[in-house]
Amino acid sequence: MRKRKSYLANQQIIFHQLFRRFKNLPRPLQFAFTLSLGTSALIYASVMLWYFSNDLTNPTFLGMDKCNACYGKKLCRSFLRGDFVLKGVSGVRVFDHVNIQNVFYAVANNSIPVVLKKLAHNSEFRDIDTKICTLSGLRYNCDLDLALSRSKPYNEPQLTTYSLENYFTRSMPCMSQRLLDYLQQHYDDDLTDFRVYKDARKRFIYTFSVNPEPLIIKAFPYTKGYPFPKAYGACGRYLVTENAGTRLADYYNAHWIKRIDIAWQLMKIADKFTKGSSENFKFYWTDCSYENIFINNKGKVVIVDLEDIIIIDTAKIEREKKAGDFDTKYSLKFTECKSGYGDCVEYSTESLCTQKEADLNYYVICRNLLSSYANHHLKPRGFLHDLPSNIEQEYKIKGLLEDCANPTKPNERWIIKDKILQVLKEIKDKHV
Ligand SMILES: *[C@@H]1O[C@H](CO)[C@@H](O)[C@H](O)[C@H]1NC(C)=O
Repeated sequence: MRKRKSYLANQQIIFHQLFRRFKNLPRPLQFAFTLSLGTSALIYASVMLWYFSNDLTNPTFLGMDKCNACYGKKLCRSFLRGDFVLKGVSGVRVFDHVNIQNVFYAVANNSIPVVLKKLAHNSEFRDIDTKICTLSGLRYNCDLDLALSRSKPYNEPQLTTYSLENYFTRSMPCMSQRLLDYLQQHYDDDLTDFRVYKDARKRFIYTFSVNPEPLIIKAFPYTKGYPFPKAYGACGRYLVTENAGTRLADYYNAHWIKRIDIAWQLMKIADKFTKGSSENFKFYWTDCSYENIFINNKGKVVIVDLEDIIIIDTAKIEREKKAGDFDTKYSLKFTECKSGYGDCVEYSTESLCTQKEADLNYYVICRNLLSSYANHHLKPRGFLHDLPSNIEQEYKIKGLLEDCANPTKPNERWIIKDKILQVLKEIKDKHV
């Protein structure tokens, strides 16, 4: 108590002295001093405000003002309440301009790491918004909600692949009515409440035009065993998913047993995608690369970028039997890389859409990740480089992976992939 008193007394004396000195200064100097003090305080306050303000409670930052030209509204209340806070570099707005991927890291409820994805570059949004205006006969920079209200798919009794035709911008080249219906059934927003339903349809059309990822992630959820991140929902022009953990690239130098386990999981995913789901959809993972794969805290492989996954409706292929050889397997040919790592796999979309089976998934995983053909300049000799020599001698895994990427005989990849799966499993069972 005494101590505190004397501390206060000391402070009083200092202030008195300062004040006396200030009063003794010439008038103009007093004025200049006051002005500069005021300005600094103002600048300081605005910097602090800018630094500590939570952009994620700002409706314009979220793109809520653009709804229903947005992905959804489900999480908006939670955003405005302040449940989400940007973290790390994402929290510093100057970096917005270099954030080309438009991916932001944030924390929900002070504890859950999440990723906010805008799913398109700003220039792409401009192009799509303009296209939506034009398709409804409105001018550049039009009211997007009005444009969507006047759009053809919105005014049809049912959404059809035909009415949505001009709104496809990316992937989904093998669209079918059944797939479209399936995506609608699993869409985030409430499509049963008619009042909400009409706006939800606008948002569905818009999402479809920009990037199908929010639709795919809901229709094929991790809870059903799909290797995709958990999705929390969307608000405005942000999709919120779990932060899937560690990048695959960070495992390039991991212990070989860990890498064998990851390789096995990747081949299992390829197998699952190729064989298809019980709902008769199958998946071709065309852009398999280090950038799109994460390992979560349970050690499981998670694919984070879904826009280039081609979804096939096998029921449609069976029904239409378009290709004369629809029943034969489509085996991709090995091709050299055109412009460097990751850009080596050439395929016919037409064949993927019309033939019953294709070995694309095994090919891209062997070619872009596992075999020594995956010669990333920072990660040479592939993900399974430098296995212990006794393991290599016993299982000859290197040769199998080379053959998977570049088979010596046509259709051989189908046999090799089974051998690889078997060998990886054996090593796992023995050593992990
Ligand atoms: C955050 O907490 C709120 C309120 O308890 C809850 O409704 C919401 O689902 C939580 N958000 C996440 C991402 O877990």
